[in-house]
Amino acid sequence: MLPGTLAEAHSVHTSAAAISTDAQKAGKSRSWLKRGGLAALGVASATGFGTYALAEEESEHGLHAPDYPWNHEGYFSSYDHASIRRGHQVYQQVCAACHSVQQIHFRNLVGVAYTEDEVKEMAGEIEVTDGPNEEGEDYERPGRLADPLPRPYRNEEAARYANGGAYPPDLSLITKARHNGANYVFALLSGYREPPAGVHVSKPIC
Ligand code: HEC
Repeated sequence: MLPGTLAEAHSVHTSAAAISTDAQKAGKSRSWLKRGGLAALGVASATGFGTYALAEEESEHGLHAPDYPWNHEGYFSSYDHASIRRGHQVYQQVCAACHSVQQIHFRNLVGVAYTEDEVKEMAGEIEVTDGPNEEGEDYERPGRLADPLPRPYRNEEAARYANGGAYPPDLSLITKARHNGANYVFALLSGYREPPAGVHVSKPIC
């Protein structure tokens, strides 16, 4: 599929979410165990304060995304590396057509989602413009561990032009850049629905 319209972007966001929902389900039993553990520690929230904080957030950030049972939340938890690997695959196959992850270099994936050899092979499959050589010219070479993951567009203008004026933001720090982080992004990806009967959604502007 060629990226082009916002409608496409939405459908891409939605189908990718379906993939990640399956991945979530796979890891679910363990996360519920962890949640149970936390409950046993007696994390009883002060309901009154919680409600106040939520109301304030809604006026500032819109509806609060639901809290999902992430594997990495909890005092004794760490990231689920199989999920990170899966996430990278989804990014590479779907999101990378429109979004960059400029802060992530191939080396960052070593020991996190892949072995060093796997990442070297992956990096070697892309062409990187480097230079200058002794003649002062730029040249192409295979990617290596120190290179950032390739970006889909040369600059913001090209990105906007291809996406009907909307800019697909860099996703490297997106969970830090959005209120309620991973919960927000997950809710965004899985939140698209068919409009209810009688509701008319206008066509994308491009
Ligand atoms: C066809 C192009 C395209 C693809 C593929 C795509 N996106 Fe997007 N995405 C966009 C555009 C364009 C925007 C900006 C929308 C706007 O500003 O209204 C965006 C915005 C976003 C945002 C920011 C939303 C916000 O609150 O500002 C996130 C997060 C995001 N995309 C995640 C993803 C993920 C994760 C994937 C892969 C599963 C993905 N996108 C695939 C085009 C795409």
